[in-house]
Amino acid sequence: MRVVQVTRFGGPEVLETRTVPDPVAGPGEVVVKVRFAEINFIETQLRRGITPGPPLPEPPYVPGAGVGGLVLSVGDDVDAGLVGRRVVTRTPGFGGGNAELVVARAADLIEVPDGLALADATALLIDGNTAVGLFANAAIRPGERVLVQAAAGGLGSLLVQLARAAGARVVGTAGGAAKLAVVAGLGAEATVDYSRPGWIQEVLDATGGRGPDVVFDGVGGELGRQAFEVTARGGRFSVHGASSGSATTVDPAEADRRGVTVLGLDQLAALGQDGNERAVHALAEAAAGRLKAVVGRTFPLERAAEAHAAIEARAVNGKTLLEV
Ligand SMILES: NC(=O)c1ccc[n+]([C@@H]2O[C@H](COP(=O)([O-])OP(=O)(O)OC[C@H]3O[C@@H](n4cnc5c(N)ncnc54)[C@H](OP(=O)(O)O)[C@@H]3O)[C@@H](O)[C@H]2O)c1
Repeated sequence: MRVVQVTRFGGPEVLETRTVPDPVAGPGEVVVKVRFAEINFIETQLRRGITPGPPLPEPPYVPGAGVGGLVLSVGDDVDAGLVGRRVVTRTPGFGGGNAELVVARAADLIEVPDGLALADATALLIDGNTAVGLFANAAIRPGERVLVQAAAGGLGSLLVQLARAAGARVVGTAGGAAKLAVVAGLGAEATVDYSRPGWIQEVLDATGGRGPDVVFDGVGGELGRQAFEVTARGGRFSVHGASSGSATTVDPAEADRRGVTVLGLDQLAALGQDGNERAVHALAEAAAGRLKAVVGRTFPLERAAEAHAAIEARAVNGKTLLEV
């Protein structure tokens, strides 16, 4: 089968297509014939040899934490009735997904609801799990003002919709007019281009001068810091990423003084571990038409390097997929 390997740490060009032996399902496992593999932003950082937290994989390795496809075969003790089912699944160890065939744990499989496109289900598998968890942790109340940073991105596009559906008034930030149009289309009441000077004043204006009650910050760096500084007293500042290169860190004493609760990166560890319920919920919401997966671009498997380059150039909306 063909796989995409990170052959060494470096730019997108280190991604190469290789042929390796087909995998076989062991006990408790299935082989999935992959149709779509999703790419997470962090994979571009790990490929460069930079980690915002998790251990660095050692090249050569096959990246890819989630796939969608059809069950091709099952291990000895697994229900043979699974063969042919349309599923999405995370991959063991969050790797190996950029491949024609993937071994997955039968317990990790999620059947794709009728009426939901496999590409959309694949896009929602990991981002849906994370977004639903972050949203729950932030305990948003109707009428609250919510700032979603990188709101046209994979997580951002879902957080905008979840907050909106909870009755919040959403301000979404992103870089450039095209992305802001996407964010407005997802239900944000106001959009702000945070690549422009003075953006934070626009956020204040859009929140009645008071600042947001809740901030979802996946960008970090100076943009995250500025967002923390306008978070309203009594608010929550939720950190989930570092797409700028560094996550926002807040001195607990400063947060106390400002009356802001910080939901830090440590919330992610729990979201990565405790089963599939949130992803199942996200897929059900999408099948019911209440949550839209934003799939920006889909590249053929062998063009994974182009896909990584597009993500790093901030040239894609929402989720980027590889099609196999
Ligand atoms: N997806 C998950 O389930 C998950 C789980 C845990 C942690 N995270 C973390 O959460 C963050 C967002 O993840 P995501 O998957 O939803 O990614 P994403 O938002 O789809 O992509 C990252 C976005 O960050 C913005 N950005 C700001 N500065 C950037 C820079 N210097 N280089 C590249 N992009 C920059 C870009 O939007 P603009 O062009 O609009 O600025 C870009 O679209 C990442 O740090 C990720 O590691 C994600």
